[in-house]
Amino acid sequence: MRRKLVVANRKMHGTIPGNKAFLEGLLERTKEYRDSEYAVCLPHPYLYQAQSILTGTPIAWGGQNMSRNDDGPYTGSVSARMLVEFGCGYVIIGHSERRLRGQDSDNSVGERFQVATRAGLKPIFCMGETLEEFEQGLTDLVTIRQLNAVIQQIGIKNLAKGVLAYEPIWAIGTGEAASPEHAQTILHFLRGYLILKDTEVGNNIRILYGGSLKAQNAAQLFGMPDIDGGLVGSASLNTEEFVEICQAANLSS
Ligand code: 13P
Repeated sequence: MRRKLVVANRKMHGTIPGNKAFLEGLLERTKEYRDSEYAVCLPHPYLYQAQSILTGTPIAWGGQNMSRNDDGPYTGSVSARMLVEFGCGYVIIGHSERRLRGQDSDNSVGERFQVATRAGLKPIFCMGETLEEFEQGLTDLVTIRQLNAVIQQIGIKNLAKGVLAYEPIWAIGTGEAASPEHAQTILHFLRGYLILKDTEVGNNIRILYGGSLKAQNAAQLFGMPDIDGGLVGSASLNTEEFVEICQAANLSS
């Protein structure tokens, strides 16, 4: 049985007092929703704050990217070891906001996946197609290409050490989420592909949906059999709304 997981991707947002209110509010308000799991991915400077507030609680935290390299002369970068030192359980890799700026490629995401898992982090590996690719019916092709690039580097068994996230680029930050049926179709297809490679991995791996996931559409999306939770951007900036999404996940667990 796959437990639902809801992850806040707060992107480049936040202040020290704002994070405090968010994290403490989340802890308080999700106390009764213990059938699902929750995590928050914050900008790197705030990870110490997350560690101070969340240590010993059921809420996990993580980074939004990490270097493929270990310690060394890489100005401006943060290593997997550093994320672990700040108590991170997760790290987002391959987000389209990085891929589209040329900061990540199919191959570099595979390398990051490997480095993250070696350090003991759970990568949240993002995949998804552009609007143009969606309109041309290329969603399957694009997501499988992204998935294969990682599997080639780490092997199918190691994929189980991470979490997958399908985030159609046309749904990110647009207010227009994929329909639950579309998201289910793609996630079912991806899971089926993995099951063919390794039944256990395919059946057990968590696949999240992301892209304009809100309080309003969370219950419908989470009601789909292959959707194991969500990666939430804009709606995670509002504590009340994020709590409602957590509640929807908990109810469908
Ligand atoms: P929005 O929820 O703002 O569409 O962002 C989704 C996302 O990119 C999560 O990683």
